[in-house]
Amino acid sequence: MEHITRIFCAVVIAALLFTSCGAKATYSYEDNAPSLAEAYKDYFRIGSAINTWNLNDPESNEYKMILKQYNTLVLENESKPDALHPSEDTYNFTNFDKFVDFCEENDIVERGHTLLWHSQCPDWFFKDGNGQASADLLVQRIKDHVTTIVSRYKGRVDTWDVVNEVIADDYGLRRSNWYNIVGDYDGDGDSYDFIETAFIAAREADPDARLIINDYSLESSTNKVITMYNAVKKMLEDGVPIDGVGFQMHIGLGMDLERMEDNFRIIAKLREINPDFIIEVTEMDMNCYNEDQNGNSIPLSKEQEEQFNETYVGVFNLLLDLAEEGVLDSAIFWGLHDGTSWLNGHHETYPMLFDREMKMKDTFWDIIDLPSKR
Ligand code: GLA
Repeated sequence: MEHITRIFCAVVIAALLFTSCGAKATYSYEDNAPSLAEAYKDYFRIGSAINTWNLNDPESNEYKMILKQYNTLVLENESKPDALHPSEDTYNFTNFDKFVDFCEENDIVERGHTLLWHSQCPDWFFKDGNGQASADLLVQRIKDHVTTIVSRYKGRVDTWDVVNEVIADDYGLRRSNWYNIVGDYDGDGDSYDFIETAFIAAREADPDARLIINDYSLESSTNKVITMYNAVKKMLEDGVPIDGVGFQMHIGLGMDLERMEDNFRIIAKLREINPDFIIEVTEMDMNCYNEDQNGNSIPLSKEQEEQFNETYVGVFNLLLDLAEEGVLDSAIFWGLHDGTSWLNGHHETYPMLFDREMKMKDTFWDIIDLPSKR
């Protein structure tokens, strides 16, 4: 009997130890999984792009993962110009309302992406009957579009990507319809006028919202980041209310981290004009894939996995440095996990910290420890 009691006690103690130490979680949505947002809360917010269908079922793993891992969110497609404003007299706010309600109920910071973009933007903006809209007409449409959307969410949407991808890959501003039609509207010698119009209207519609100019390759293209710096510097000096630059950060394996740091620091110099000027990482992912001789997708090689880990850890250390300096306060991933990434096109890709089953990758475990090592 005494023997059986001893075995019973040993089993109970083992069970208690197991529960109190906690088995290491495997899936990002588990109750005992560590939270990225929680681990980084003293440094910067961590977010993801989502879709409103992720919010339909509170019992779903994606829903639980969203609440567990992130404290800022953005819609992947449903708040772009073609979704919110498909024709001149039609606004469609249903999905964005749902998103903003969800964020408010759960204390999540909302980003609005994006008011003006050359892509996913309906043609009606640029037309007048069968001809092209005049500069006057397009400026008026920009004002109406921005004012209607931003004022509807006044005091609710924290941050707007006011314009997206306005810098050209080669030189100067992108020759978009916005740029070509509005041109140098105020006659001051530059053609930033469609951007200025959008930022001024957004500030008037919600004086407390943060207003961001967002673009890709800023971390890798010196040409592009210098163009961005010069454009924003001129606009800030002219009193245009730009609060920060969004680095999309669609990066690749083996990204040059020194170049990335230099480029962040070029934009950080805008704090000489506005000491509160901020940098956000807005669409982070790391494109990586592997294929066999027949072009079929296969898992990453050991070497690729190591590079993936090294690059992500390097990026997060740099973001922590910038956050400590007060230069950066949010980093958002473009997709919840490998399975939801836009990069899965020609190849199966592995760009996120969570795999297709929403399991934490080794890199997640390395990254979650970084803040506590500071
Ligand atoms: C750009 C846009 C995003 C998204 C991604 C990938 O970076 O800013 O809205 O469309 O491309 O799809």
